Amino acid sequence: MPFETIKQSLAPDMSIVDRIIRTRLHSDVALVNQMSEYIINNGGKRLRPALVVLSANALGYSGKYHHDLAAVVEFIHTATLLHDDVVDESDLRRGQATASALFGNAASVLVGDFLYSRAFQMMVEVNDMRVMQTLADATNTIAEGEVLQLLSCHDANVDAASYLRVIYCKTAKLFEAAMRLGAILSQVDNATEEAVAKYGVHLGTAFQLVDDILDYSGDEHETGKNLGDDLSEGKPTLPLIYAMQHGDIEQAAVVKQAIEKGNIEGFAEVLQVIKETGALEFTRRQAQKESDAACAALSMLPDTNYKHSLLQLADFAATRQF
Ligand code: IPE
Ligand code: IPE
Ligand code: MG
Ligand code: MG
Repeated sequence: MPFETIKQSLAPDMSIVDRIIRTRLHSDVALVNQMSEYIINNGGKRLRPALVVLSANALGYSGKYHHDLAAVVEFIHTATLLHDDVVDESDLRRGQATASALFGNAASVLVGDFLYSRAFQMMVEVNDMRVMQTLADATNTIAEGEVLQLLSCHDANVDAASYLRVIYCKTAKLFEAAMRLGAILSQVDNATEEAVAKYGVHLGTAFQLVDDILDYSGDEHETGKNLGDDLSEGKPTLPLIYAMQHGDIEQAAVVKQAIEKGNIEGFAEVLQVIKETGALEFTRRQAQKESDAACAALSMLPDTNYKHSLLQLADFAATRQF
């Protein structure tokens, strides 16, 4: 089932979420409105808010806080992107100039802070300590993940385990939180909450593994992001780690040097090594394993259309091209 079809089935919920996002973006400071509307209007897949809604619906929740928390999760995600594009010096996001390229780094960092703090204001309104704990922990872990990644840049000795820790923190943690929120709202038992949280971890891991593949092999029109951003930052992602471990001495040296220098000029040569060693296929297989583990975690959930959509999303995460 294509991603758009999954989203279509959630359209009534997601249009409520979208309305909340638009209303709560408002600020009396014109630049905040202008920038936050710029990035939100450029779209984005809205995958994390969809997870909050699907988790709550799949577990039988009948209130309306899942819409608010879906918006909160999208605000946190968008704040991380505003900061991330500054750190990564990226100039294309969602098929448009990044906010940092258009409005500058200072404004991007500050509007990112606005979005984080607006998210905090909104989560407090839900008035549930476990909701706040989940979101506070996730936000804190994402920040740690981005710092961990900063420390690993230009380091060709980073192994797969350290890489997996970074992607758990920077990406999978928010997917986990999104799923857990649906469980907390639905007041399910502990085992069910942990099961959906586990789905989120595996889904988020698959999602980031594929993101790191697409940084070498994606179509910029589909991803809306530039190829080669990871290499120019000297990021030791799994395709590179695998290529160094499985290439011959010369191939490993090409990749090692590119990581250490972070030079985009070496992109074609690195890409060739990645292809020759089968590093992208290996990474895709790892993503597929994570996706399978995500699906397995849902085995105890009742059979509903929402569960079906979650299973389809796991497939999307591992096979996506955008
Ligand atoms: C981008 O996430 C950041 C990563 C974790 C790879 P998405 O690919 O979900 O970004 P949007 O919201 O759809 O633009
Ligand atoms: C995304 O990291 C994770 C966060 C924004 C916290 P990346 O830097 O890998 O994602 P893209 O490629 O810029 O979307
Ligand atoms: Mg980035
Ligand atoms: Mg980054």
